[in-house]
Amino acid sequence: MTLSVDKGLGNTIAADTQLSFIDGAKGVLEYVGFDIDSLARNSTFEETTWLLWNGRLPIARELADFSKQLQAEYEIDPRMMDVLRSIPRTASPMDALRTLVSALAHFDVEADDPSPAANQRKALRLVAKTPTLIANFNRWRKGKPIVSPDSTLTLAQNFLWMLTGALPTAAMSRALDVCLVLHADHGLNASTFAARVTISTQSDMYSAATSAVGTLKGPLHGGANQEVMEMLLEIGQLDKVDEYIKSKLARKERIMGFGHRVYKAYDPRATYLKTFAKQVASDTGNLPLYEMTRRIEEIVLAQPNIIEKGIFPNVDFYSATTYYSLGLDLDLFTCMFAASRMSGWTGHCIEQLAANKLIRPHADYTGPHGLVYQPVDQRSKPTTSSTSPSVKGTMSVTA
Ligand code: CMC
Repeated sequence: MTLSVDKGLGNTIAADTQLSFIDGAKGVLEYVGFDIDSLARNSTFEETTWLLWNGRLPIARELADFSKQLQAEYEIDPRMMDVLRSIPRTASPMDALRTLVSALAHFDVEADDPSPAANQRKALRLVAKTPTLIANFNRWRKGKPIVSPDSTLTLAQNFLWMLTGALPTAAMSRALDVCLVLHADHGLNASTFAARVTISTQSDMYSAATSAVGTLKGPLHGGANQEVMEMLLEIGQLDKVDEYIKSKLARKERIMGFGHRVYKAYDPRATYLKTFAKQVASDTGNLPLYEMTRRIEEIVLAQPNIIEKGIFPNVDFYSATTYYSLGLDLDLFTCMFAASRMSGWTGHCIEQLAANKLIRPHADYTGPHGLVYQPVDQRSKPTTSSTSPSVKGTMSVTA
């Protein structure tokens, strides 16, 4: 068998999926055959989750039942609050979420039940409880009283209710709902891959979700939306955009919120979000921020070779101002992404288990061979070659 190296796995198909389809060259994303733009305009997060998990749109009764099942799972076990309070208030919400998603397993008697029915119930619990974990940690770290979930509200409404303690307007909950729909699934992105690798070992859903949260955290994946907002706040005003962006590009630095491993055309998730973000920004007095994003897009796309390289705004570019307009703290942005993608992660886990094969690629070993072992007291200097990254420097536990 001849193996070829594919660093970053950009040319490797590592799973079959029926959840979402991406054509990166044409800028197409479909969930189970439905164009993302039509789902963002017409669907809800509950309906989209049902679609991803069941492979078709629900009829009215199925959707109503599913929404009720989710609502019934918003609450977390009271002992989860002890875990939550043991996390430093200074921890980043994504780090806290990683710990809390993992901790959910301790209070689920079905945590290690591998049956498909139990896994479906765990998927539902993970999607329903993740907003509660995020909101509770956010309020606790700020010294504010916890707001209990309201099981009469949609997931987006309830999320904003628990975060702020006020019932959101229809426009605000719709804005969050659109972002949740847009982020729910995206092929074999890094965090979904991490979830599938974990579940492929026949580990459990909570472990897979924990792997995924940790993977999403990185700035090259889910962390980019926060960095977009930090950049906008650093620039400060429209007339400073040109100089800031042009000098960043001259230094060959990346502009956060641009580019994508798969899309070499406009990210289809950004198309609707772009117009939607304008409305949300306008409604909340944040139009100047939106105008800055539009100017950044103009400058970046006018750069030589940038369109040839397939660099366009991605979903994070416009979700950043939307979350900011909703009044969310910057370090909660990636948590919003996680709350949404939980539906995709768990859907992929169930799909992986339905036809499981351990995911175990190879590494191309580039180190030395045939070295002679010497007892430690006979070694005077490192015996391995300098090509091995682990021995380039000297490791010391006291360093
Ligand atoms: N700004 C400027 N140039 C860029 C950017 C950017 N944001 N992204 C890529 N390029 C250039 C890069 O410098 C390189 O140029 P050259 O060929 O001259 O060296 C070329 O495009 C290809 O870059 P690459 O790193 O090989 O491409 P990749 O497919 O590995 O990177 C990416 C994809 C998302 C990591 C990258 O575009 C990036 O770092 N973007 C900024 C972070 C970001 O917005 N991430 C969110 C992705 S969307 C959310 C999600 O689905 O996770």
